Amino acid sequence: MGNPPARTVRFTVNGVPATVEVEPRLTLADCLRHALELTGTHVGCEHGVCGACTVIVDGRAVRSCLMLAVQAEGCAVQTVEGLVDGEALGPLQAAFRRHHALQCGFCTPGMLMTSHALLSSEPDADVARVREALSGNLCRCTGYIGIVEAVLDARAAYKAGAGKGRPDR
Ligand code: FES
Ligand code: FES
Repeated sequence: MGNPPARTVRFTVNGVPATVEVEPRLTLADCLRHALELTGTHVGCEHGVCGACTVIVDGRAVRSCLMLAVQAEGCAVQTVEGLVDGEALGPLQAAFRRHHALQCGFCTPGMLMTSHALLSSEPDADVARVREALSGNLCRCTGYIGIVEAVLDARAAYKAGAGKGRPDR
């Protein structure tokens, strides 16, 4: 039995329309990384456990290793590349830098996207809520202290409407 035929999938990534030919079994994570060369999205466990692959689909944080590219048909996808503010770092990215919220950086894209989804809907999130939201993202080397401080620091920018990044819808 041969492979099923490739499918054409259309969606937007960071506000830019994308059309890709993919095998039906290709994950959204691999599609972003290999077909679209958006390698900021990291793949760790490939089992939905670590959160490194988190992207935003139609406004919600999702694990792109658990979603097929074909399921993104017609969706608005935002990746870590879309968090910039013009040519500058976006407020969350800048806060992560200020607070030394990364060491190896492997988990950082997922941390940023989970935090972006949180602050976009709850810019008043308190420390307990930030910790809860990040509890599904595993980091092996920061102890989370700088990460949580960075997210709390970025809240003011989100409250002021400055945290949008490139459009995700
Ligand atoms: S790579 Fe997707 S959750 Fe770990
Ligand atoms: S900064 Fe290394 S795993 Fe989080």
